[in-house]
Amino acid sequence: MLETEIKSIQWFPGHMAKTRRSIKENLSLVDAVVEIIDARIPLSSQNPEMGRMTAGKPRLLVLNKRDMADNNVTDRWISYFRSRGIIAVSMDCKSGKGMKNFYTALEQQLLKELIETRRAKGMVGTPTRVMVVGIPNVGKSSFINRMSGSKKAKVEDRPGVTRTKQWVKLGDKLEMLDMPGVLWPKFDDQAAAQRLAFTGAIKDDILDIETLASLLLAYLAENYPLYLKERYKMEVSDVPPGDLLSLLGRKRGMLISGGEVNTERAAIMLLDEFRAGKIGNISLEFPEKN
Ligand code: G4P
Repeated sequence: MLETEIKSIQWFPGHMAKTRRSIKENLSLVDAVVEIIDARIPLSSQNPEMGRMTAGKPRLLVLNKRDMADNNVTDRWISYFRSRGIIAVSMDCKSGKGMKNFYTALEQQLLKELIETRRAKGMVGTPTRVMVVGIPNVGKSSFINRMSGSKKAKVEDRPGVTRTKQWVKLGDKLEMLDMPGVLWPKFDDQAAAQRLAFTGAIKDDILDIETLASLLLAYLAENYPLYLKERYKMEVSDVPPGDLLSLLGRKRGMLISGGEVNTERAAIMLLDEFRAGKIGNISLEFPEKN
């Protein structure tokens, strides 16, 4: 069921082709590409074509929303990417933690040679230019606002609405190209689509919310049972996955006439609390399991 519903949002191939084209066209204007991903789902929140689309340009991965993910797991992800030759840093754009690491990685690792060559040629005033890309909801706008120190109104990227690319100056050393257009996540992989839905990157109204919440609960029961115990007083060790949602509703007193549990309410509550980070620091993907 999830499959057919998720497929229904794979629309607008023309729009996606436009984004792809626009990235390719503007690549020659930048020194590097910064891809923002969600630290809770570093693989599922990557655009599957990014490597191909930006081939030839150095790429820096920013694992954003670090404050919501499991710290140890995020550190393992950073090592995982680095062991594959990809420079990655983690950030929390809500508080700004990690900004310094970002600059260090960009200037002293990713573009070290280029900056040194320019300096040797006397091009000291030439700013470093980067293109910022990411699938919706990973915190691309928050990243740009945080880096530029100003809060721009968020512009919705919608098919049919023309938005021009814009350069955002960060001091005299760095310029960021904020690219318009929607980048699609990994829809083709069911597990990835589910994780994107858990985080809210895919809208609820196209998914069966009780199925989704049950899947999330089963994941939490397996990987973070203590959080379920702390927040919901749920003892999950002997509960079959299919019964977790009713147990949650019962614990929260979400009953309807006849003593039955209102599982829809329980599902909405769980997903809201998960997305607000109230359940705990939770990672949905682990390096060794992928
Ligand atoms: P986008 O441009 O990639 O689509 O993402 P955007 O910056 O709009 O961020 C999507 C949501 O994620 C926003 O929440 C934003 O506040 C939140 N967010 C971004 N970066 C971080 C982070 O590092 N940590 C946490 N905890 N949240 C982050 P929202 O609920 O849609 O809006 P609001 O809370 O800002 O009002």
